[in-house]
Amino acid sequence: MEQLIIQGGIPLVGEVTVSGAKNAALGILAASVMADEDVTIDNLPDVDDINMLLDAMESIGATVVRIDRHTVRINGKTIDRLVVDDVYMRKIRASYYFIGALLGKYRRAQVPVPGGCDIGQRPIDLHLKGFGALGAQVEILDGTLFAQAERLTGCHIYLDKVSVGATINVMMAACMADGLTVMENVAKEPHVVDVANFLNRLGAKIKGAGTDTIRIRGVEKLHGGDYSIIPDQIEAGTFMCAAAATRGDVMVKNVIPKHLEAIVAKLQDIGCEVLEFDDAVRVVSKARQRSTNVMTLPYPGFPTDLQPQMTVTLALAEGTSVVTESIFENRFRYVDELARMGCNIQVESGNVAIIRGAAQLRGAKLCAPDLRAGAALVIAGLAAQGYTTVEEIGYIKRGYEHFDEKLRELGAAIELVDSQRAVQKFKLKTG
Ligand code: UD1
Repeated sequence: MEQLIIQGGIPLVGEVTVSGAKNAALGILAASVMADEDVTIDNLPDVDDINMLLDAMESIGATVVRIDRHTVRINGKTIDRLVVDDVYMRKIRASYYFIGALLGKYRRAQVPVPGGCDIGQRPIDLHLKGFGALGAQVEILDGTLFAQAERLTGCHIYLDKVSVGATINVMMAACMADGLTVMENVAKEPHVVDVANFLNRLGAKIKGAGTDTIRIRGVEKLHGGDYSIIPDQIEAGTFMCAAAATRGDVMVKNVIPKHLEAIVAKLQDIGCEVLEFDDAVRVVSKARQRSTNVMTLPYPGFPTDLQPQMTVTLALAEGTSVVTESIFENRFRYVDELARMGCNIQVESGNVAIIRGAAQLRGAKLCAPDLRAGAALVIAGLAAQGYTTVEEIGYIKRGYEHFDEKLRELGAAIELVDSQRAVQKFKLKTG
């Protein structure tokens, strides 16, 4: 079984280049099938979620030409099926973006109800409410969602809760509805803005992405075009936390510093030095950090996708920190794994973690419970004394491009291994 083995205790030092944003890429790829001309997308991250979504696109008949590892050319003209297979939806939750894309373009879509990382209930009621408001009939039968409409008509939609997925999905369908749609209380995440910019590049008329209200004037069709995806804010934040937790000095390149304000503020709070450049941030962490409190919130608040990485960083800080998870109700499952390393974290009411910082963590055998928690466990292993193994790394590969390689370039002793022999070899090499 594939696992990561880490010899911890080495400060990360050097430069790392961040890949394209996975969550932006998922929305953009799904939206690209709405055009009947060539769409070329670059700066795609080479991660399993993206490759799986590309397979799902091919399965409905879209033409997908992989130009290189980070560039793809797509044409939706050849689509001949409006049914997304269960196999994709079970592996990749973002396949639900095909509902918005296909409903907008063809007025019909059939997609299984999504699964994904088990970090909470993750309903899709807001997506459905939005499609319904546009005039679609939506029903769920035996785990499959059927959406269809004679016509889609622009309308006023208020989302009861700020949802990235619902904002992107409904925005896609509204792009090709008749007339004006006004969406209120929408998500403002950088990837929402990136999907809107992409759709506008193809001829959509979307205004206000990045604010609370998005106004969309429907168009009859979208044309082809080229687009480059923004850098991954979460991958950048992950390396920033890794630099802090290992007391290293890391220049994180190819970032948009504005997208990192929440994590920069928290790292400064706990005593890290953070230097900002045009498209890079450098995190310098010399001494043991101090405690702080964090609450996850929709953008521009502290991202829930960086909560586990920050919790690990705080598990090594001096004093007691409180981390409150306000987006997903089941996002502290990894805390049991950290306990094996000597972390003292108590979870109350399911969503508040009280962290009493330890001076040192010890290596342990760990298992990743989901994507971001998997990355956080790797950070814990990098900071701990001794050897750590992390299993179930399929989760990490879903969202981090060459995570182990990038960490090695920063001086980490980490390797992807698939046998006990390889584990022993690593220990001999590093011991
Ligand atoms: C996206 C990201 C995910 C990130 C999350 C929050 C992608 C592919 N995934 O997930 O990495 O952790 O945003 O930043 O971009 N909700 C409802 N009803 C709905 C939809 C959502 O109640 O119809 C709730 C969710 O349960 C959650 C909150 O709204 O409590 C936010 O979820 P949402 O922003 O939709 O997350 P995703 O789009 O699934």
